[in-house]
Amino acid sequence: MSETLSWTTYVDTKAQTEHDRLMLLQEVFDPFSARLLDQAGVAPGWRCLEVGAGAGSVARMLADRAGAANVTATDMSTHFLAPLAESGIRVLHHDVVADDQPGEFDVIHSRFVLEHITRRDETIRRMASWLRPGGVLIVECGTPIPELSSDPAVRQGLTALATLMARSVGTDPVWARTLPVPLEDAGLVECTAEGHIIPVRGGGALARWLTATHRLIEEPALASGVVSQEELADAYARYADPAFVDYTWLTIGAFGRRPAL
Ligand SMILES: C[S@@+](CC[C@H](N)C(=O)[O-])C[C@H]1O[C@@H](n2cnc3c(N)ncnc32)[C@H](O)[C@@H]1O
Repeated sequence: MSETLSWTTYVDTKAQTEHDRLMLLQEVFDPFSARLLDQAGVAPGWRCLEVGAGAGSVARMLADRAGAANVTATDMSTHFLAPLAESGIRVLHHDVVADDQPGEFDVIHSRFVLEHITRRDETIRRMASWLRPGGVLIVECGTPIPELSSDPAVRQGLTALATLMARSVGTDPVWARTLPVPLEDAGLVECTAEGHIIPVRGGGALARWLTATHRLIEEPALASGVVSQEELADAYARYADPAFVDYTWLTIGAFGRRPAL
């Protein structure tokens, strides 16, 4: 049985609301991912793997750079990836924790996946072993930083989110902060990492994504008493108010290279 607690049992990965949430995620985080792909030098002919492709935007960015026929996009739920297959990208229903090696690659990328699975270090070693000598692993993980928020309700909402995702899915909300050490431990070299924070602006895509993500855990969070109805209502009001600006979500992008032969 998969160790994935799991994302696909906790989140309805076929729902329109989940698709909408992923589209917001992509709008917010794609520019940083594009920068990381370019930093890695992804180029025509590179064999590319996107792990946990979600709604597929990073796989598309890989295809733009390397050619669609060179890209494999995997996920435990491939429901939103049908358009990728139509464009010539190989789409695979695949559990990164447990399933067979999906090929050999010059670059492997994953965003907001590893923090949600339980056997992270082992999975990074698996992904590293799927690289060709000299190939690059790029891992992006998120970590909420409620401690930086200027607003008590927003702080409490983010704390509830971190607590409930840990309980329900097995998400580690602070594991991202250990990067790039897990890549070094997997035998990769030239490991580096960079943190990226953009403003949460009321009404903007990041605020709307955070609201939709809070809604995923709203019911159990209220039932467990980690956050009150009033606090959540206040947090949602901040996220809808264009005058509200905050800095509470850190994305860490890490690189490592498999040693050349
Ligand atoms: C937060 S979403 C991120 C989607 C996409 N990576 C993005 O950033 O746009 C997490 C994704 O990881 C997938 N996922 C979770 N556990 C997985 C596993 N064990 N193997 C492969 N994919 C997994 C989920 O189905 C979901 O699509």
